[in-house]
Amino acid sequence: MIEKDFVPSEYTKEIKEGKVTYRSPSNIALVKYWGKKENQIPANPSISFTLSHCATTTSVSYKKLKGPTSEFSFDLFFDGGPKEDFKPKIETFFNRIEKYLPFLKDYHFIINTSNSFPHSSGIASSASSMSALALCLMDLERELNSEISIDFFNKKTSFLARSGSGSACRSIEGSIVQWGSHETTIGSSDLYGIKYPGKVHGVFENYRDTVLLVDKGQKQVSSTVGHDLMHGHAFSEQRFAQAHKNLTRLNAVFAEGDLSSFIEIVESEALTLHAMMMTSLPYFILIKPKTLQIINKIWNFRETSKTHLCFTLDAGANVHILYPEVEKEEIMQFIKNELVVYCENGQYICDKIGFGAKKL
Ligand code: PMV
Repeated sequence: MIEKDFVPSEYTKEIKEGKVTYRSPSNIALVKYWGKKENQIPANPSISFTLSHCATTTSVSYKKLKGPTSEFSFDLFFDGGPKEDFKPKIETFFNRIEKYLPFLKDYHFIINTSNSFPHSSGIASSASSMSALALCLMDLERELNSEISIDFFNKKTSFLARSGSGSACRSIEGSIVQWGSHETTIGSSDLYGIKYPGKVHGVFENYRDTVLLVDKGQKQVSSTVGHDLMHGHAFSEQRFAQAHKNLTRLNAVFAEGDLSSFIEIVESEALTLHAMMMTSLPYFILIKPKTLQIINKIWNFRETSKTHLCFTLDAGANVHILYPEVEKEEIMQFIKNELVVYCENGQYICDKIGFGAKKL
C-alpha cells in the first residue's frame, strides 16, 4: 500500500454525534527504531512485543459542527482534569493526519485520556496514547464508511498513529509487531506496523516484562531530538545495517525458540541504542548508575541460575526485564530480593506480552 491509499473517497454516511473508547497498550522494542527520515519514515525496521498492562484508555466524544472550522476544535482531559499543555502535541498530530481524515474540522471533539501506569514513571506514554487516539478517530471513519475491512482499519490506524509517535504504530495489534521494510518479512512496510507473520515458538507465549522504574524524572533529551541526531552520525549506516541483520536473525530465533540468541540480540540492541546516544554530537547519556548496577546483577544471576532473563532499555534509565513464563517464580524472587532496591520508591510494573488494542 502507498500513502494515497489512505486518503478516503467521499464518505457514504452522515454521523451527527457519538462516543468511542479504546484501550491501547504500550510496546517494548526488541530491535530498536532510532533515526528517521521525513514524515516519520524509520531509518531501519524495528520489532516489538506488545504489552498487556501498560496502556492508555482514551474516549473521544464527537459532535458535528454547524460548518467546518478553520482550526481544530477539541477539549483535552487527562485523568479527569483539563490538560492544556498536551494540546499542542494533539494539534500537530491533527495537522499531520488531516489529509487522511478530512472530517477532523467538521467536529468538536472531547478527548478524555488516562494511563494505567503512574504518571511521570519514566514510562513513555506516547505509543499507547497516540495509538489510542488514532483508534478512536478511525472508529469514527468506520462509522462514516462501513465498508472498511479489519485489515484496512488496522493498517490505516497504525499509519495514522505513526504520525503521532513512530513507535505508536506498533501498538495496534499483538503480540509481536514489525514496522519498517525488511527483506525477509513479507508485507512489511515503512508506513505501518504489521503483526509479525513468521512462525513463533511456544516459549514466547505469555513472555514476561517486569519494568524496573529506576528514574521517574523527565528525560533530558527527547526522542525527537535523539532521532534527529542520527543524521550525520558517525555510526548511523552501520547501525541501520545491523538492525536489518538482527531482524533476519530474529526470524530464526522466533521460529526455533532459541533463547540464547534472543538474549544476545535483545541486549545488544538495547546497548547499541544507548551507544548511539553516547556517540552522537552533541552526545548524551540517559542511563543512570543504577541501570548499570541492575544490568550487572542480571548477568550474574543468569550465569548462576541458568535462567533466561535478559534486559532491554527504552530511551531512558528504566530497565525492562524479559523472561519466559515458566521461569517467572524464580526470576520474580530474584527481582524482589536483589533489584527492587535500585527502583525509585521500590516501584516496578509486572507486565507481559499482549494481544493489542481493544474497543471498550
Ligand atoms: O516513538 P518515538 O519517536 O518516541 O521513538 C521511540 C524510540 C525507542 O523507544 C527508543 C525505540 C523503539 O523502537 O521503541
